Amino acid sequence: MREVAIVAAGMTRFGELWESSLRDLFVEAADEALRAAKVDRVDAIYVGNMAAGQFVGQEHLGPLMADALGMAGVAATRVESACASGGAALRCAFLDVASGASDLVIASGVEKMTDGADTTAILATAADQEREAYHGITFPGLYAMIARAHMKAFGTTEEDLAWVSVKNHRHGARNPKAQFRREVKLEEVMASTMVSDPLRLLHCSPVSDGAAAVLLCPLDQASKYTDRPIVIRGSGLATATMALADRRDLAFLDAVRLSAEKAYKMAKVNPSDIHLAEVHDCFSIAEICCIEALGLVEKGQGGRAAREGITALGGKIPVNTSGGLKSKGHPVGATGIAQAIEVYEQLAGKAGDRQVAKARFGLAQNMGGSGASSVVHVFERV
Ligand code: COA
Repeated sequence: MREVAIVAAGMTRFGELWESSLRDLFVEAADEALRAAKVDRVDAIYVGNMAAGQFVGQEHLGPLMADALGMAGVAATRVESACASGGAALRCAFLDVASGASDLVIASGVEKMTDGADTTAILATAADQEREAYHGITFPGLYAMIARAHMKAFGTTEEDLAWVSVKNHRHGARNPKAQFRREVKLEEVMASTMVSDPLRLLHCSPVSDGAAAVLLCPLDQASKYTDRPIVIRGSGLATATMALADRRDLAFLDAVRLSAEKAYKMAKVNPSDIHLAEVHDCFSIAEICCIEALGLVEKGQGGRAAREGITALGGKIPVNTSGGLKSKGHPVGATGIAQAIEVYEQLAGKAGDRQVAKARFGLAQNMGGSGASSVVHVFERV
């Protein structure tokens, strides 16, 4: 396999972007990446997207987006793995370049969720229809059950959950692309509207529009496009049971552990080598479970991490310096690429006043549904 590098990135602001269509969002992000690398054509395009057919009635995103970029003719396809679609698209692009099949590839993600569709019902199509969604449960409900299981097993408290939101809003306040650029206080989180007990409004990622894109090439060609390439050292994809009822342990995300093990093995690193991580905090409990399954903290210790500042900027292992899904926003298909962009910018020293000093290895973990799929990438500054 060839060594693969990210050489450029582009991203829209995340939020309620009513003035831009799905296509506009994609073009804005991809065009920013192409301009940064000073190229106007690539060999292939992967578009991560969960549900444009349901959100805005648009399928067949590969050719649509290639055409929109003036690249009709290139290989282009959509990649879907629910909220992990962006991470899955990055993995496809990585393997395409690593295999030698393509030399310059766009890995992207896009979602337009605020155009009036029944968002909660559409998101619930990523759960097990026959065994979960049909009976009325939604994603806040599924993650609330995970939260209750974690609280019962490890004594995790509602305050622990709230500290994750406080931290991620504090980080997001420093991110010009974030949907919510404001800090929130612990008391504010604890008093926010109950969505699904114990998860309140300020424990939930929002409904968002947005797009993100990165440009990948073999490391030995990277100097044509940038003087600061970031290498993708490892990539892992794994699955777990769709229905929560079939999990051996509700409070532990097996797909995250398995995808991380694969990525660590390929990258030849251990969790203790990772200097910063972007993880899938679609609900605050998800960040707690993810950092445990990634091995960044001990099992059962995730609840302490935000409260004690371990995962804050300046802490032992900063997590979600972008603001995470909670504060930056969660346009589902774009999220996995946006996570990769945060790690890319951090390792390239371009993260502005969110910069983590002297980071060499970074990790991005993107999850589908209630943890039925997970994609992990490990990145290295060279
Ligand atoms: N965090 C912080 N503020 C939020 C928010 C969030 N997650 N969601 C909405 N708000 C704010 C809005 O900006 C708005 O503020 P304003 O009155 O100052 O303008 C207010 O809360 C009400 O917004 P509204 O859009 O009416 O909220 P809602 O009740 O329709 O939706 C949730 C709130 C939590 C139900 C919704 O954001 C949600 O479903 N989130 C989860 C998405 C999800 O499941 N993603 C997939 C994960 S696997």
